[in-house]
This record gives sequence, C-alpha cells and structure tokens, in this order.
Amino acid sequence: MKKDINYINIVEPSIKEARKRRGAEVLIKNFILEPKYLNLGAGKKYMLKTYGCQGNLADSEKIAGILEMMGYVETNDELAADFVLFNTCAIRENAEERVFGEIGRFEKFRKKNPNMLIGICGCMPQEERTINKIKKTYPHINIVFGTHNIAELPKFLYNAIIEKQKTLEVLSIEGHIYEDVPVKRDHPKKAWVNIMFGCDEFCTYCIVPYTRGKERSRRPEAIIEEVKELAKLGYVEVTLLGQNVNAYGKDLKDINYTFADLLKDLNKIDIKRIRFTTSHPRDLDDATIDAMSLGGNIMPHLHLPVQSGNNRVLKKMNRKYTREEYLEKIKKLKEKVPGISITTDIIVAFPGETEEEFNDTLTLVDEVGYEGAYTFIYSPREGTPAATYENLLTDEEKHQRLNQLNERINDGFLKGRLRFEGHVVEVLVDGPSKNNPNMMTGYTPHNMLVNFEAPNAKVGDLVQVRIVKAYSWHLLGELVK
Ligand code: SAH
Ligand code: SF4
Ligand code: F3S
Repeated sequence: MKKDINYINIVEPSIKEARKRRGAEVLIKNFILEPKYLNLGAGKKYMLKTYGCQGNLADSEKIAGILEMMGYVETNDELAADFVLFNTCAIRENAEERVFGEIGRFEKFRKKNPNMLIGICGCMPQEERTINKIKKTYPHINIVFGTHNIAELPKFLYNAIIEKQKTLEVLSIEGHIYEDVPVKRDHPKKAWVNIMFGCDEFCTYCIVPYTRGKERSRRPEAIIEEVKELAKLGYVEVTLLGQNVNAYGKDLKDINYTFADLLKDLNKIDIKRIRFTTSHPRDLDDATIDAMSLGGNIMPHLHLPVQSGNNRVLKKMNRKYTREEYLEKIKKLKEKVPGISITTDIIVAFPGETEEEFNDTLTLVDEVGYEGAYTFIYSPREGTPAATYENLLTDEEKHQRLNQLNERINDGFLKGRLRFEGHVVEVLVDGPSKNNPNMMTGYTPHNMLVNFEAPNAKVGDLVQVRIVKAYSWHLLGELVK
C-alpha cells in the first residue's frame, strides 16, 4: 500500500513535553464557529465512537455539538457515514488494540464509500507510539488530533473536505479551558458537567497527566450557571467531572474556593441529584465529607479508588496516602454519611507486587465493604515511571490475582445490596434493560442498578420501587403503585 503522508500541518506529541508543568497561564477561550465552516456538514452524516472515561463521554457530547452546528447529522449506519471519528482512551493496552481493530474495519468500508473521512482524537494520539503506528500502518486516516484542540475540528474538516489535505495536529501543552462549546447530550435527564480538566497527581502507572495536561478548574460561576440552566431545562441528575475533583479550585489563585464550597453551592440548587467523579483519597478532606453529609441532592455514594491495600505498593504507585489513612477516611465517611455506598478501582499485579502485598488488598476489600469496583491488571504505559519498573508478574499470576480479587469483591457487593431487600427506593429510569426489553432499568441514590417492570415509565422518570431481591451486580424490584 502506498504511504502518502501528505499532512497539511504536522504537530506531533511529545511525552517529555507533556510531563512539564511550567505554570503557563490558563486561558478561558469562548468557542465560536467561523461562518465559513457553518454549512460544511450540510447533507452529511457522522458517526462517533467513544472509548474510555466519563471525561471522554463528555468530550464526545461536545464534538457532536460542534458537528451538528456545522450541519452534520448522526447516523448508525456504518456504511453511510461521511465522517467517522474515534475518540480514544490510552489507559490500558487492550483498549488501544480494540481501537486499531475498529479503524481497520472502517478502512475496508471506504472501498464502498470512498468519500468517507476517518479521524482519531482523544488520549491515544497524545502518545508518540500511537502517532508512529498511524504513520506506519494507518496513513490513510484523514484527521488526527488530541485532547487540547477539539474546538478546531471544524478547521480540520475544512482541510479534508475543501483542501483535500490531511491533518495531524496534537498539542502537548498544559492546556486551556473552553467555554460555550455546543453540547449534544446523550441522555435527556442526566448530564455531565466538567468542573476541571487535567491531572497533576502523576501516579507512576498512569498516562492521564500526559494526555490531558495540568489540573485546571473552571470558574465556580460558570459551573453553577450551567447546573442552574440544566435544572431549568428539566435535567434530573448532574455528574461533576474531573480526574481529581477534590483538587478543584486549588489553581484558582484569585479566590479561596474549594470542592466542598462548590458542593455546598450546588446543594442549594433545585435539581434532584448531584454526583461527582473521581475523588482522590489524599485530597478528600473533612470539608468535603461535611458537605456530603448535607444530603439533599448530594447522593450517598462515593467512588474512591484505592488501587492497592499495601503501603509499599501505594508508595511505588505515588498515591501519597497509606492504607491506614485511607481506612480512616472511610470510617469518617461512614460516620458522617450513614448508609453511604463506597466503590473503588483496584490494580492487581503492579510490578513487584508480592503475594503478601496482594493479600493486603484482599483484606482491605473486606474491611471497607465495597459495593462496586473496577478491577484491572496493571498495563505498562510508555513514558510513565512504572513502565521501567522490573519484576513483572507472569500472565498466569496476573489473571489468578484478578480472579481471586473479583471473587472476593463479588461477595461484598451482594452483602451491600442485601441491605435494600424489602426497602422502597427512588429510581431514576434509564430505559429498557439491554438483556430483557420487558424490564426497565435505572439507578438508586446509592448508584445501584435496579431492574423492574414498568410498562408506562419513561426515561428520566423518578419512580418508587420496592426491592424484592439482591444480586451481586444489580437489584430486582417491583414498581410501587
Ligand atoms: N482519575 C481517576 C481515574 C483514572 S483512570 C483516579 O485517579 O482514580 C481509571 C482507573 O484506571 C484508575 O483508577 C486505575 O485503577 C486504572 N488504571 C490507570 N492506569 C492504569 C494502568 N496503567 N494499568 C491498569 N490500570 C490502570
Ligand atoms: Fe491517573 Fe492518578 Fe491522575 Fe487518576 S489521579 S488520573 S490515576 S495520575
Ligand atoms: Fe482514558 Fe484518557 Fe479518560 S486515557 S480514562 S480517556 S482521560
């Protein structure tokens, strides 16, 4: 295959550059669509494939907003799409492999639909290795950009459609904040609200601080205004997003305003449910726990990733807290927010993790009583400190630990759900269940999935459901008439 690397503008990422924190000024930029891009998408269809965290889901809603402002309409027909964009995640190796498999599949569709444009954005292009692979194996991708220049998508499409040129433009900067980007929200009643971007924690295994830039907070006024507007539009639930929401406000030098202050202000707004993710155990402070204890629209659930239950491993991960400090915070949370449901993320088989160290994770799981957890096998990420650590475990050991951990946490999940049997809980309806279209699904305040029969319920309704049976991963309920 001919390799035509005929890009209009090549800006390649640099992990070394992305690591730097120089204190560059954060600009607040307002998104404006230049008139020459306004009808570029008229009569054209787009398909957006999103991978990764809620941050990426929220970005995709903005990308969809921009595309629709340009006249594009969404399609589910893979062969009919004029523009297919992959918004990608770089957190683990297997997520990356899946994306390249999918891109390969769409390259074949182009034989039938030669006008189809293919683009890739998000966290993967922020990595040098992805760009090298694209240049070597996927040189026909039309548009390659990263997490910092979503707002320039109209220009990249103009380059492709009008100038017939490809774009590769990935910035390794500390980052800015865009306001007023149009958003096409996926759910009619639940909304993501970014409160901050980036991450400065530099956990040694993690690529995010390199792909998303430094921690930078939106102004409180902008967030409060957005939540009030969502409430006015009839939204029932907002989830505040940041890689480390407990660091919110630390970079706003002209005001003294923290995440706890934000929660207290949002607590006064007439919207039913406020959630947030993700919290970092080191930065979760008493003021936040106190704000959570206000209850009301602040939901009794906290996702508090622990990663490991062993102090040596936590130190190697650069998590900056000990097992004891973590457990102390859990104790406070349980005291101040009675009945709170706690969920977590855990990495097994970090380089050099011994059997005893892994056992510390198992005992911590029992002590906390998690009611949900995402568990992962450690995946080395090029450019991060842990990628150079030695004493990797064998594949067999990795899978054996993951299975052992999953069995242990499943027991805990069931225990946590059994407490709801016989209780009536409020459920926000999400729609028909994927496995059984006769059942509706939705989430309780404790963020537990419930399946129940409700032929007349609509997406976004708040209904009362009596829990009849608890399973490890969901609850079965019946609608209270
Ligand atoms: N900012 C959040 C979540 C970031 S990514 C936090 O700090 O909790 C979500 C989860 O992916 C992490 O909590 C971690 O458990 C997992 N993860 C991150 N990097 C990983 C890696 N290199 N290998 C395996 N799991 C990883
Ligand atoms: Fe990654 Fe750690 Fe930042 Fe979470 S807090 S995004 S795990 S570096
Ligand atoms: Fe993945 Fe980037 Fe989110 S690496 S987890 S999409 S911040």
